[in-house]
Amino acid sequence: MKKILVIDACVRRSESRTKKLLDKALETFGSLHPDWSFDILSLMDMNLKYWNTETLKERDELLAKGQYDAPLFVLGRQFQQADGVIIAAPFWDLSVPAVLKVYIENISADGITFIATENGLKGICNGKWMLFLTTRGGIWEGTDMEQGTTYMEAVSRFFGIQKFYAAAADGVDVAELDCAAIMQSALRKVEELCIQLC
Ligand SMILES: Cc1cc2nc3c(=O)[nH]c(=O)nc-3n(C[C@H](O)[C@H](O)[C@H](O)COP(=O)(O)O)c2cc1C
Repeated sequence: MKKILVIDACVRRSESRTKKLLDKALETFGSLHPDWSFDILSLMDMNLKYWNTETLKERDELLAKGQYDAPLFVLGRQFQQADGVIIAAPFWDLSVPAVLKVYIENISADGITFIATENGLKGICNGKWMLFLTTRGGIWEGTDMEQGTTYMEAVSRFFGIQKFYAAAADGVDVAELDCAAIMQSALRKVEELCIQLC
């Protein structure tokens, strides 16, 4: 049985087109792998906090004492242990919504998701793959202005998750384009990727 961690950063919830890609991934994986378990984190429900002066100090003191089992690291340990990670987030301000960045702040810690070695930092996460799902208002795929997918790919590698896959619907807010057709094509890509992943 594989443990899959699902991070839902779809701020618009039921209206969200990115959430539709996530639903397709969960439906496809669910029918292909009924034995897998899916832990779903809906970031909009979690009241996540970015580090401030006091909480960062608290975090660093716990890390210095090696207290990796402290409640503060529960999200990081959960991420570290997952066999695969699915992340769904819309393209916002050339990247991802702040709530996803705050989640990443919460899981990124020396001794939890990476370690320091004499050769530099090394990811220690168990996951074999990360699947990133996004939709973008404009057309940005493959340009240097698209910093959502590229950022998530870097995060994946940093945490030691070697395989990164992404499916995107590009240009869904461009009035001249057929949004329904763009979504259909992205949904097919999601399905194909899910079939490929095991
Ligand atoms: C706060 C915010 C920021 C956005 N920033 C961008 C952007 O930088 N570039 C872009 O092409 N679209 C941008 N969009 C449009 C979204 O990428 C697009 O509508 C996307 O499909 C939203 O996903 P959702 O339907 O899952 O909410 C933004 C939308 C919002 C609400």
